[in-house]
Amino acid sequence: MCGIVGYIGRRDVAPLLLEGLQRLEYRGYDSAGIVVNSPKSGALKMVKAKGRVRDLEARVPKRFAGTTGIAHTRWATHGAPSDINSHPHLDPENKVAVVHNGIVDNAAELRAKLEAEGVVFASETDTEVITHLIARSQAESLEEKVREALKVIEGTYGIAVMHADFADRIVVARNGSPVILGIGEKEMLVASDVAALIAHTRQVVTLNDGEMATLKADDFRTYTTSGTTTNATPETVEWEAASYDMGGHDTYMHKEISEQPDAVDRVLRGRIDDRFNTVHLGGLNLDPREARAIRRVKILGCGTSYHAGLIGASLIEGMARIPADAEPASEFRYRNPVVDPDTLYIAVSQSGETYDVLAAVQELKRKGARVLGVVNVVGSAIAREADGGVYVHAGPEVCVVSTKCFTNTVVAFALLAVHLGRIRDLSVTDGKRIIEGLRKLPAQIQEILEQEEDIKKLAAQYADAKSMMFIGRVRGYPVALEASLKLKEISYIHAEAYPASELKHGPLALIEPSLPTVAIVPDDDLLEKNRAALEEIKARSGRILAVAHREQEKADHTIVVPKNEDELDPILMGIPLQLLAYHTALALGRDIDKPRNLAKSVTVE
Ligand code: G6P
Repeated sequence: MCGIVGYIGRRDVAPLLLEGLQRLEYRGYDSAGIVVNSPKSGALKMVKAKGRVRDLEARVPKRFAGTTGIAHTRWATHGAPSDINSHPHLDPENKVAVVHNGIVDNAAELRAKLEAEGVVFASETDTEVITHLIARSQAESLEEKVREALKVIEGTYGIAVMHADFADRIVVARNGSPVILGIGEKEMLVASDVAALIAHTRQVVTLNDGEMATLKADDFRTYTTSGTTTNATPETVEWEAASYDMGGHDTYMHKEISEQPDAVDRVLRGRIDDRFNTVHLGGLNLDPREARAIRRVKILGCGTSYHAGLIGASLIEGMARIPADAEPASEFRYRNPVVDPDTLYIAVSQSGETYDVLAAVQELKRKGARVLGVVNVVGSAIAREADGGVYVHAGPEVCVVSTKCFTNTVVAFALLAVHLGRIRDLSVTDGKRIIEGLRKLPAQIQEILEQEEDIKKLAAQYADAKSMMFIGRVRGYPVALEASLKLKEISYIHAEAYPASELKHGPLALIEPSLPTVAIVPDDDLLEKNRAALEEIKARSGRILAVAHREQEKADHTIVVPKNEDELDPILMGIPLQLLAYHTALALGRDIDKPRNLAKSVTVE
């Protein structure tokens, strides 16, 4: 969703900020804007545009020099996408410019109050309230003006502020929306995502909620919103700038699917303890005594991460023999759940920023629960709020729909399940069996990726479908859910997933030749049951594409995947279906990396 990038230094700022905005495009947005500070007069110059960053770029005049600037990609909340509603927002005297991620909850009230004082609003946004509050502050310093404004604001924000009368600085603040400082040589950057910084510096400071910073070209200072110095020290980010490039692939999605063998290798690295046939997870902060006392596990996530959580729950329940289930975080928050001290709560989020997940974590913590995070982005909000957790180490994922993060998240759950299992009920032999299975995954994923040409041909045969059914049983059901989500997100083909056992209780009515079914058919104790479901579909002349460990006679086509341990099969069975969704969307000419109406991380309610 919304993205911020800002710079103060000696370089020509506009191209640098536009490039930064391009790095943030993957998050999803509907308009963009930029303000720079004229080097001579200090006056603020602004350009905004509804649409893509390239539309903004086309509007930026040739002479747009400046060495300080802030820029933004907006995802509409208050007010439709338009030039006017895009950020930055300036005050009527063109002195103050603000870019903002998040939502001002009391915007309507503040707006009415300001209007009563004679303020004329240019846009319909909540953000413009912040601009006017800063512009009208009588405080002497910019820091104090911003602080005064923030005092009356309720809601979430990551903001960056420039002021024509304080041309030597950018002031930023964070409450609930990421703000990351990039510390350079005689230049400072700020962004809402490291993706926009990494081409310039790997030294970063991630602000905490309630923290502010002043950036000058050769200096930065961090302090709380009440003015206490915090002296944050920079950390080095591991991710390479190259991770954000397409690396010879046509889309990020294709690149990220292909990276899975390496990504899985990374999540396993350093974590397997062969001496005890268990798994060591450094960040868990859960001692064996505490692990033994857990009576339930509740996993919370949204979208693809929720699906990873469903598989996670079955891995934990199966191996650690602790009752476990997963629920969409967005639902959990609103149903006033019983929060039980003996339950271990696990928040899953690749971005670590999803608002519904973060809000669930905060609510749980407020009620005294223990919450772990299974997160990809190191230092993200959810990772920080949690009491401990497991990083999934998938590396940056740019395509809006998740592939490698999903796979790595499930592998991280398998590691957690072995860890908890070996403290509780999982035998040495079973621990060893699963660990050996985990080690086989990278090579087996590679084997599946090598079938891409065949899967592409299959996609061409199914791309004309108006709707598709995905079925699986027990462990196979979350695989079906995730595969159907992937297909609908990027190809816009309607798809639904059902437990194979539920077919005869309703969806069988839909089966006819024009509604193909993708069936997950692992070689496990449920094989015969799954085959029976294929028979039911065939008897109604339904077309079937099976993902199985061997050819399925009843299916029109079978994608054969390598067999692993039963528990780990879901990880492998999802991979060909990522490729199926990808090639279906490609055949239909969709914008694969940026599907319509979707954002990479949904940071609003
Ligand atoms: C958005 C994305 C989904 C993603 C979900 C959860 O809805 O479009 O692809 O699965 O957010 O994101 P998270 O970062 O919490 O895993």
